[in-house]
Order: sequence, then C-alpha cells, then structure tokens
Amino acid sequence: MQRITTTSLAKMKQRGEKIVMMTAYDYPGACLVEEAGVDVILVGDTLGMTVLGYETTVSVTLEDMLHHSKAVARGVKRALVVTDMPFLSYQPSVEEAIRSAGRLLQEGGAQAVKLEGGISVCPQVHALVAAGIPVVGHLGLTPQSVNVFGGYKVQGRDPESADRLLADAHALEAAGIFALVLECVPEELATRITQQLAVPTIGIGAGVHCDGQVLVFHDVLGITSHLGRQAGRLHQPRFVKEYAQLGEAIRRAVAEYASEVRAGKFPAAEHSFHSGDAERSAAAHPSRK
Ligand code: KIV
Repeated sequence: MQRITTTSLAKMKQRGEKIVMMTAYDYPGACLVEEAGVDVILVGDTLGMTVLGYETTVSVTLEDMLHHSKAVARGVKRALVVTDMPFLSYQPSVEEAIRSAGRLLQEGGAQAVKLEGGISVCPQVHALVAAGIPVVGHLGLTPQSVNVFGGYKVQGRDPESADRLLADAHALEAAGIFALVLECVPEELATRITQQLAVPTIGIGAGVHCDGQVLVFHDVLGITSHLGRQAGRLHQPRFVKEYAQLGEAIRRAVAEYASEVRAGKFPAAEHSFHSGDAERSAAAHPSRK
C-alpha cells in the first residue's frame, strides 16, 4: 500500500482528481476513516469542541494536539496525517513555530501541520518548510480568530476582503504551503483561488470547485447535531452534510444495554464463563489480547 504524500496531492490536482480529507481524533476513528479510503486525515483542533467539550478552539493546547495526534497516527498506514497547530503555538515567533511543529511530527506522528492565517504567518510557513516540515495553510473563517471576527461568519464577501484573501493565498503559496484549506468563503472566490494557485485547495463551506473537501468526523456521522439538540443548540452550519445519525444510534444502544442490565437479561449464558470450559479464555476477546 503506497502512502499518500504531499507530492501525491499535487499530482491529484494536476489530474483533476478530487482530494478527500476528513478529521479524526483517536485510534478507532482513524482506523475507520483510513479503511474508508480517505486521502488526508486531519487531527483538527476542532477536537476541542468535538471530544474535549471546550467552547472554541482557542482553549486547545499543544499537549492536547500531541495526545490525539499520537492516537490517530497509530491507526493510519496510507493516508497523509496532518495535525493542526493550536492557538499560540506558532503566532508568537518563528522559533516557537518550529519547536511546536517539530514536536507534532516527532512525538505526534504527523507528516505535516496546518496553521491559520495569511501574510502575517508567512515567516513561520517559510521557516517550517525550510526546516523540513510540510505546511497546509488555512484561510477564510479561521476559528482561532473567532474573537476578532465576532462570530463564525462567511469571509471574503465584499471585493476588498476578497482581494485580501486572494493576496493571502498567493503569499502562503510563495512561502511554501503544499495545500490550502478554505473555510466559509463564497464559492466564486474559492473557485478563483483554486484556479490561480498551483497547490490544491481543500474546501469546507467553499463550494464544489475546490480541489478537495474536508468535513469533521462528528458532523459527518451525525454526532454533533445530536449533542446540539440535547443541549438546546440546534444550529448546524450549512456546509455540513450528515451521512449517518450515529448520535441517536449510540444513545439507543447504550439505553438498551442499561435496560438489559437492570432487567437481569445481560449477561446471558454465552457471555459468561463456566467452570469446566477451560478452552474459553478472556484472552480470546480481541480487546483483551
Ligand atoms: O480543526 C479542524 O477540524 C479544521 C477543519 C474544520 C478544516 O480546521
């Protein structure tokens, strides 16, 4: 099995083949996403909300990212693993960016990192690439700046901000990124950027003409919306498409287990050990090897 590399993605853009990226945050998630044939697995800092229960990605630390990146990397053999650089792990200085990204590759098992921002982070991008660390850029709605944006809003709607975004995209490409995530920008602007850049663009809420698409694991599987409904928050971003309703399926399965335990129906005879069946060993269970 050939591993996906930064070069594979460049060739996919040249051939007009769409790139599939999806987030994963732990070992079982990574194994399933990899098995489904996803090209790039992003250990996104959205893990702050999806698995750690934070309000925004601003609370996510480098230690959080390392912990989850290691688990994902253990489950992946083919896909390219990209890990997000969290808030304040790269903005303060070029040196800090190299040290943080270096840890994500050395300890976290990532093959590349992603960071948010345009012209202001180009010195970091340039230095990381020079140090041998491949970088994905991220423009448009950059969630680490939610407090500056004043909410999660579509970016680049007016001509001035669209021109700024285009200039940022060109600057990032010149600094050495190998791919660019475009989040929540009008389809027309994402199309222009995709046509003008040599590196592939990966859209999320950026229309169908990007070179690839990325979605969040818990959104695709209908876990986020279930938790949102339980918490009385029904807002689902327009760019999300749910391909399953696992939140409800998990709740139902756990409720059935609880009800069977309470009714004395579980464990049944086949789930129990009996004196005399020496050949039945706990180690026969895959999770008990
Ligand atoms: O952190 C993340 O999951 C991301 C994607 C939404 C692109 O950055």
